[in-house]
Amino acid sequence: MSSLATYTETMIMHPSIPTRVIRTVGTPSFIYSEETIVRNVSKIREAAERHGLADRVHLSVPYFVNSNPHLFKILEGLGAGATIQNVEENEQLEEFGLNIPRIVSPTHLSDKDLDYFLARGIPINLATLSNLERAVELNLNGLRLRIDIFPDQDQRHGIKLLDFPRVKELLGNRKLKGIHVYPGTSSDLEACLRFQKRALGLLKEFPSITELNLGGGFSFDYQEKDNEKQHFDWVAYFGRLKERIASFKMKEDVNFVLEPGRDILADSGVLVLRVTGMEKPSGKNYHEVYTDGSYVLMPSAMLKGRQHQVAFFDADGYELREEDQDGLPAKLNGNTTLSSDRILPGIVYIPPTIKTGDYVIIRDVGSYGATQHLEFLNKAPAIEMLAKTGNSMEVISRRGSLTDKTRNIPK
Ligand SMILES: Cc1ncc(COP(=O)(O)O)c(C=O)c1O
Repeated sequence: MSSLATYTETMIMHPSIPTRVIRTVGTPSFIYSEETIVRNVSKIREAAERHGLADRVHLSVPYFVNSNPHLFKILEGLGAGATIQNVEENEQLEEFGLNIPRIVSPTHLSDKDLDYFLARGIPINLATLSNLERAVELNLNGLRLRIDIFPDQDQRHGIKLLDFPRVKELLGNRKLKGIHVYPGTSSDLEACLRFQKRALGLLKEFPSITELNLGGGFSFDYQEKDNEKQHFDWVAYFGRLKERIASFKMKEDVNFVLEPGRDILADSGVLVLRVTGMEKPSGKNYHEVYTDGSYVLMPSAMLKGRQHQVAFFDADGYELREEDQDGLPAKLNGNTTLSSDRILPGIVYIPPTIKTGDYVIIRDVGSYGATQHLEFLNKAPAIEMLAKTGNSMEVISRRGSLTDKTRNIPK
């Protein structure tokens, strides 16, 4: 039987601390692992290296995927960049003293916001013709564009292919520096490779570019038990990129930017909840497991129908079962009155011995988790802890007090 300590060692790669920490800081709590983030970044870089692309591939992780500056401090230390989309995000990073290189991949920017980024020299992937017009009016060079290369041309963001004549007219003698495209979230290898090919095709239209940003959206398998296989197949992705660099006769000076969110952060975090009761409603074939959590702590699992893997531990930190198929079907409840307040959308299988005071661990919540906490239903935010490489644990977001609201309402 494995213990909570060894489980989280695998999950968040950290020895002994979690049980003690959870006893000290309580639940609900998000726990992240620095080691997992470091490992995920290294895996992508090693895959690029294998195909001789290490010097040409740069990572820029979207900040909104888990907008905790402490996590981005780790990425800064690893030499990765941050993709941001608005002024607020830049102010947050600056407030926390981060010097991480930034790219802005926004939707349409107001003139004021555009000027804010220009004044700071932060590169922008201009996503609308009118933003490009303004950049040209200001006589800017080194321009980058976000382009919609989907066949149906229906992406909310990005300049459309039919607008290329106007883009070229606006650019005049200016050389376009970069192009940004985005394949859509949770795209599998096949979809990303199709997209990669279409993106490389843009070089014919804009031969001057030296930066091709292939976006994020690389799939992560939440159901797969083998952690290696949960991740995107970077070796295959870079293998094709290498072949295509040759077949498209691309110049040596074109660099590639990638913006993976999930692949770097998803398995770096777990959410720990406490079981507060359990019942089998009459006439139902499943149990209701009550917890001290709520969907508002990480709404996207419910909103996106994303089923995470779970594990159960007793109050001493020992795992209650190994194989979920042996368990009883159950639904995990949040503790607000909202009729749809469940932690996960589907059935989970609980150990028959589960009782009040045991723990539920929700895996792979390092991306699109705590960052989406809702003020709705007045639930105090969860604490966030970071298991640092080298055996220390740090609070990276304090638990809200019971009267806390994320809205800053003055008295
Ligand atoms: C421009 C851009 N880059 C990167 C991402 C990250 O996607 P993922 O976390 O699926 O890799 C997103 C997600 O919406 C995005 O809009």
